[in-house]
Amino acid sequence: MMNEQNMHFGTDLGLDAPTSSAILAFLTANAAQRHLTEAGLKIDRSLSPDAAPLRITETPYWIKKHHDIRDATWLAPKIKSKTRCEACHLDALEGTFEDAAMRLPKT
Ligand code: HEC
Repeated sequence: MMNEQNMHFGTDLGLDAPTSSAILAFLTANAAQRHLTEAGLKIDRSLSPDAAPLRITETPYWIKKHHDIRDATWLAPKIKSKTRCEACHLDALEGTFEDAAMRLPKT
């Protein structure tokens, strides 16, 4: 995916080589299969060994955990998209996704 960052889901990210290398190093060091967090471990374990989903929202564990959230909730002004993890997970930037840091914003 990083080798094709000029075609990232239809967008050219415009990253220079050092930035691209730094992001690739971060992604490699923090990949789910490293099992650094409970969420990473569970996402990795939900995948078949040959699976390589492009989106975290396509992984079986993520789908199972968000199954009960209604379509209208995803579209609420304070959420807008499944990709805005931080709208509901206060620890999204740390990447830990602990239960205690999760809450649905009041609409
Ligand atoms: C609309 C609010 C919302 C958004 C946005 C959202 N989540 Fe969640 N997430 C939840 C809820 C609610 C749960 C708890 C489900 C349960 O416990 O059954 C959850 C659970 C999880 C869990 C499991 C935590 C645990 O220990 O049980 C992970 C991991 C997770 N979300 C990751 C993400 C990621 C990554 C994103 C962004 C791509 C994201 N979520 C976006 C609401 C959201």
